[in-house]
Amino acid sequence: MERILPVLRCPYTGLPLQAAGSTLLAEGQFYAIVDGIPCLVREDQLAEIDRHFQKQYDEQAAEKYDRAIDLLSVLGGCWAPAQRRRLARLLSPPKGMLLEVSVGTGSNLPYLTQTLGGTGLIVGIDLSQAMLKMAQRRAQSLSVPTYLIRADACRLPFADETFDAVFHFGGINMFGDIRQAIKEMVRVAKPGAPILIGDEGMSEKRRGTWLGRCAAKMNSLNLCRPPFAAIPWEDVEAFRLHWAWREQFYVFRFQKKRPGSQNEQHASTNVQAEVRRRIQGG
Ligand SMILES: C[S@@+](CC[C@H](N)C(=O)[O-])C[C@H]1O[C@@H](n2cnc3c(N)ncnc32)[C@H](O)[C@@H]1O
Repeated sequence: MERILPVLRCPYTGLPLQAAGSTLLAEGQFYAIVDGIPCLVREDQLAEIDRHFQKQYDEQAAEKYDRAIDLLSVLGGCWAPAQRRRLARLLSPPKGMLLEVSVGTGSNLPYLTQTLGGTGLIVGIDLSQAMLKMAQRRAQSLSVPTYLIRADACRLPFADETFDAVFHFGGINMFGDIRQAIKEMVRVAKPGAPILIGDEGMSEKRRGTWLGRCAAKMNSLNLCRPPFAAIPWEDVEAFRLHWAWREQFYVFRFQKKRPGSQNEQHASTNVQAEVRRRIQGG
């Protein structure tokens, strides 16, 4: 933990944390480290919906999660590992520190490690201790140091502008505060850092197909819409909407805005090219 201690913050006050035996401490607030995983969450501060899903993952989902996702992806006509590899490549992180928000059982970690080229480090946060413990097992065979922390995506326990890239896939649709979670991912990213956010939500094309209707019956989360209104547009640039898992998941890929870079809309000088771009969705 020593390597990431300088960037850890109390999620409620923003104060730096200090190691004190098997706890982390900030101005009288103690956070336990359980099985090597710092728990930077206060249960009384969690939104009801986050508490609900945390319980579900802790008590029912963790053990079965990977098999269930593999099965669902085959039923949906794709292969989960190939989709995860594609998303890691789409993020295309520069070398340095990468944050995975809602790391779950760590299924994306091998692919994120590959894209880092075996350098840098990864920090994974999740609300479920059971999911984190599975990620911890997986992380043992990775070629980059990986630190796991129990934290709420809506209150990330890190200093501003810490990470060179931020990745989130699966979960945000049901977070207590979607807008706040995206704001937090942008806050902890360095200027210019790539950020990828994806979750269930079928494209219009997919909704109209037989497979799309089956997917909606199997899992109503597939009917979610991409949360465009929750993006802090003034703080992001190079935004693109992608689709993954045969258009069953929306994927936002953008960068944290660099100081001095103009808003894209105002920077655009070639109106014809901009009209073409908007029509073609490029
Ligand atoms: C569908 S799983 C996705 C796991 C992993 N990202 C993947 O690609 O397989 C959703 C994860 O989000 C976590 N989660 C739910 N609410 C959260 C919150 N408010 N903060 C952090 N993690 C949360 C759950 O514990 C669970 O591990």
